[in-house]
Amino acid sequence: MKLTEEQIAHFHREGFLFFPEVFTPTEVAALAAEAVAIFDQERKEIWREKSGAPRTAFAAHTYNEAFGLLGRHPRLIRPVEQIFGEALYMHQFKINAKAAFDGDVWQWHQDYGTWLRDDGMPEPRAMNISVFLDTVMPINGPLMLIPRSHRHGTLAAGHDLETTSYPLWTLDKATVTRLVDEGGIVAPTGKPGGVLMFHGNLVHGSAGNITPYPRKIVYLTLNAVSNFIRTPTRADWIAHRDFAPIVPVPDEALEHYARTRRAAA
Ligand code: SIN
Ligand code: MN
Repeated sequence: MKLTEEQIAHFHREGFLFFPEVFTPTEVAALAAEAVAIFDQERKEIWREKSGAPRTAFAAHTYNEAFGLLGRHPRLIRPVEQIFGEALYMHQFKINAKAAFDGDVWQWHQDYGTWLRDDGMPEPRAMNISVFLDTVMPINGPLMLIPRSHRHGTLAAGHDLETTSYPLWTLDKATVTRLVDEGGIVAPTGKPGGVLMFHGNLVHGSAGNITPYPRKIVYLTLNAVSNFIRTPTRADWIAHRDFAPIVPVPDEALEHYARTRRAAA
């Protein structure tokens, strides 16, 4: 997947790019099945909502073969390398469950706010690139983005330790209102296999999910190798310390895994 000049210009102007069909139904079905099995496990890397429903599974690329392949997939790595012009390492890897009925809110925030304050990341030269594992609909808590908000740099934020089970540096209502007046809100929706990438300073959030439709999305946070984190405070399975450049797998590796290894399991 090579970005065109037009796509790169769109990314810099709007702060995000959405590709509705990147992974095949076979590839994404294998990932979705693995995600469900991961959420059934009890491990320290799996965080739950206050209700007990799964919220986030960290670092699955380190202990699960399918997500290991996704974490080195050229369809995700190459476009981000193209934007930053250098090799990347995995800063963070999360599968967010947004469970049916119980998936809780993600308050309005910028991810770089956390990477800077909690991890000591020098510049916003890390990118979230996400893969839809379920159909993302207007009704099941899609990710909402405020276009062009990344142009405001890193905004003042408060550390919210109360609202959900996940501590987050969140923005106040006046700031969000001002940014939305300028940029509006978009919520990309679509089939499993869609990919969304967005700037580390793009303001985003999502509402709770009270529908019977789960909304699993995997987020790779790819950091430029030269921008490695200097003063981490979070566990190394949340903010990784392996700064070695990612070497992508062949483009067909995940499809091959889904058709052979997984089918045989
Ligand atoms: C995030 O902002 O890190 C996750 C939001 C979501 O999955 O809805
Ligand atoms: Mn975020």
